[in-house]
Amino acid sequence: MSLMPESRLPTPVQELKVPLTASPYSILVGTEWWEQVGETIHRTLPDMSHAFFVVDSEIRGQWGEPLVKQLRDVNIRVDLAEVPSGENSKSPEQLAGLWEQMRMDRADRQSVVIAVGGGVVGDLAGFAAATFNRGLRLVQVPTTLLSQVDSSVGGKTGINLPDAKNVVGAFWQPSLVVIDTVTLNTLPPRVLHSGLAEVAKYGVIADADFFAWLEKNASRLAKADPEALRHAIAVSCQTKADVVIADERETTGRRATLNYGHTFGHAIEATAGYWKFLHGEAISIGMRMAAHLACSRGLVDAAFVDRQNALLKQLQLPLSWDEADPQGMLQAMQNDKKVSHGKLRFVLPTEMGHVQMYQDIPDAQIIEAIEICQSDPS
Ligand code: GLY
Repeated sequence: MSLMPESRLPTPVQELKVPLTASPYSILVGTEWWEQVGETIHRTLPDMSHAFFVVDSEIRGQWGEPLVKQLRDVNIRVDLAEVPSGENSKSPEQLAGLWEQMRMDRADRQSVVIAVGGGVVGDLAGFAAATFNRGLRLVQVPTTLLSQVDSSVGGKTGINLPDAKNVVGAFWQPSLVVIDTVTLNTLPPRVLHSGLAEVAKYGVIADADFFAWLEKNASRLAKADPEALRHAIAVSCQTKADVVIADERETTGRRATLNYGHTFGHAIEATAGYWKFLHGEAISIGMRMAAHLACSRGLVDAAFVDRQNALLKQLQLPLSWDEADPQGMLQAMQNDKKVSHGKLRFVLPTEMGHVQMYQDIPDAQIIEAIEICQSDPS
């Protein structure tokens, strides 16, 4: 089922479909088509009478205001809320501020919340959309690679509490996701490279051919080649969409495979402090730890670990953390909200393009995998 006639899309914008039964939507991925994004949102949601933009303060001028103008030009009533950059904005206070502004701006069921920014803005605005007036439509316009390939797709929204990330939230699917690789041109290289960790993850968990494509195109990706990025984003979004269709609410274990490298990665973030590594950097080291754990359990061979290391290195990602504290990380893993009935679960590869969930892994094996990653591969 096509959610949008191909002929009505600007070329060369690719439409990926997420045919969830209750709420099907499209992901539109293109390069240099920002001037047409507003019109495309308008055409996709023709009964929108009011657009409530939630925009990251750092990109308001460059990426937010042009979209505001495009929608005003087609006579849509527009309001805009600016959110400070950074994880601290995923707070109850910011959420309450958005609710209040939505009320002042008379948001109603014909309003559409449009989130422009990275994962923080997408998660916060998404949760505001899910909860205000018992649910408003949501358009995700992710502007970082990490949010384009992960958080904007799949409907997870939420905020943090002071000592716990993402504990308050809702599954709330967007009506549309709009991606333009042009927004990546202004990202600091380190932030771009961090997003490439999640891209590499899709190859390992679901698509050996894509992993091989990434190996061939790693230097183009690391240098932000727009066409290489467009392809990598489209494949990543399609892979994530397929997983979400199979297990929207993370009940069968399929969606949990997206957490490859994340059990270790979250423990790295929790013990290092959230300032030391960008999310994708922690996931890169976490993927190496998970690959070593799989290797020590005989699930994959050393060649698999070397191959994954080589790709992550080419993508300019870190592979080690010399100060990793195995006991501290183990404790952090026990506290992670993804622990099921007190049992640690790991997503481990069994071959390139395939992973499985494992539990009852001895602490000694987990500790060994962490210790190996205290230094770079030889
Ligand atoms: N980022 C993992 C998920 O969306 O399920």
